[in-house]
Amino acid sequence: MTTATPSFAFTEPAPYWQSGVDDTLQCVSVHDETHDVRTFTFRAVPARRFAYLPGQFLTLELAIGGQSVNRCYTLSSSPTRPDTVSITVKRVPGGQVSNWLHDNLQPGMNVSVLGPSGEFSFAHAPAAKYLFLSAGSGITPLMSMSRAMGDLGGNIDVAFVHSARSPADLIFRHELVQLARARSGFRQAAIVQSRHPEPEWSGLEGRLDIAALERLVPDFRQREVFCCGPAPYMTGTRELLQAAGFDMQHYHEESFNFAELNASAEEVADAPVAAAEGECGYEVRFAKLGDVVQTKPGQTILAAAQQQGLRVPSSCSKGLCGTCKTKLLDGKVDMKHGGGIRQREIDQGWILPCCSVPLTPVVLDR
Ligand SMILES: Cc1cc2nc3c(=O)[nH]c(=O)nc-3n(C[C@H](O)[C@H](O)[C@H](O)COP(=O)(O)OP(=O)(O)OC[C@H]3O[C@@H](n4cnc5c(N)ncnc54)[C@H](O)[C@@H]3O)c2cc1C
Ligand code: FES
Repeated sequence: MTTATPSFAFTEPAPYWQSGVDDTLQCVSVHDETHDVRTFTFRAVPARRFAYLPGQFLTLELAIGGQSVNRCYTLSSSPTRPDTVSITVKRVPGGQVSNWLHDNLQPGMNVSVLGPSGEFSFAHAPAAKYLFLSAGSGITPLMSMSRAMGDLGGNIDVAFVHSARSPADLIFRHELVQLARARSGFRQAAIVQSRHPEPEWSGLEGRLDIAALERLVPDFRQREVFCCGPAPYMTGTRELLQAAGFDMQHYHEESFNFAELNASAEEVADAPVAAAEGECGYEVRFAKLGDVVQTKPGQTILAAAQQQGLRVPSSCSKGLCGTCKTKLLDGKVDMKHGGGIRQREIDQGWILPCCSVPLTPVVLDR
């Protein structure tokens, strides 16, 4: 008897990915979900297993046109399948990174990432019954949670209502139907704004409203709600639930636009700053720009720069995404980051100005 040599072998489980230490992913597959949404799957280099909460995101650090650009993408994959991770990206017309990924990222290519990060996960809100509401590419965190719940095998009670422009825009359409067939506690429904180009569409047409919700999920008021989608969708959903008497303490949402999550830049910059005893403001010099700003007691460098009209790169404003990363040439800061910087970068003198308060006069390499 001859034994064929397998094209790959099961070996000892790889060590776990360490956020802050590991940073390289290799793309292993790319596939189209819809006409403008693509899933990219990666493994770690060197081999690692991934432990994360369903709903968390990665920050991709890319070099495009000689510029470093960071963007966050939710892991649409489930941590119950720990050897690879996936992101599912919608092409944004005119968008720099989503189009670059669609047009360039191929199996075999490496990307640098930060994370996983983020708090939007059912793991932080244990409940007997969930309602997942999403629209467009906002489906990704809820898909990760659904996949995880499907794999974990316990009793689940999930109602998932996804909204899309048309049947052709339904992301994970067949997998969700399959999941509902496989798991009796998982129900799903889709609502499309227009049935074109699928006149035989038998699902709901229109927008999520109270009548549709009462019909699809009559016990929605007893459920823990997770919602993700474009800003108008989430505003509409919040208003709908409030008007229906839903207890908003059981409502959780994720925005794909940090600017919507945070106060506006001006509000951040204008926010009153608590002055701890003994703290004072310091001068911050931006060496390349030639600008100098003055922080107030307890104020972050980013907030001071924004308040004084300086445009410096930033996105999340809370130490998560790494967009504002800058080298500290001189001085000391108190940095309370949320995973947007690696320990070795800190050791090399990098800081995140959005979550760094000067402890002395400071000079930045920007
Ligand atoms: C926590 C989190 C999770 C996310 N998860 C996902 C996910 O799972 N899937 C996903 O698809 N996205 C996700 N996003 C969104 C993602 O990070 C990007 O914001 C998105 O892909 C758009 O990036 P971009 O570089 O293509 O667009 P950008 O270049 O940032 O452009 C965004 C918009 O601005 C417009 N614009 C750009 N430049 C100009 C200009 N000079 N003048 C006028 N308008 C301009 C573009 O046309 C576009 O409409 C997530 C975001 C966050 C914060
Ligand atoms: S803006 Fe996101 S880490 Fe600073």
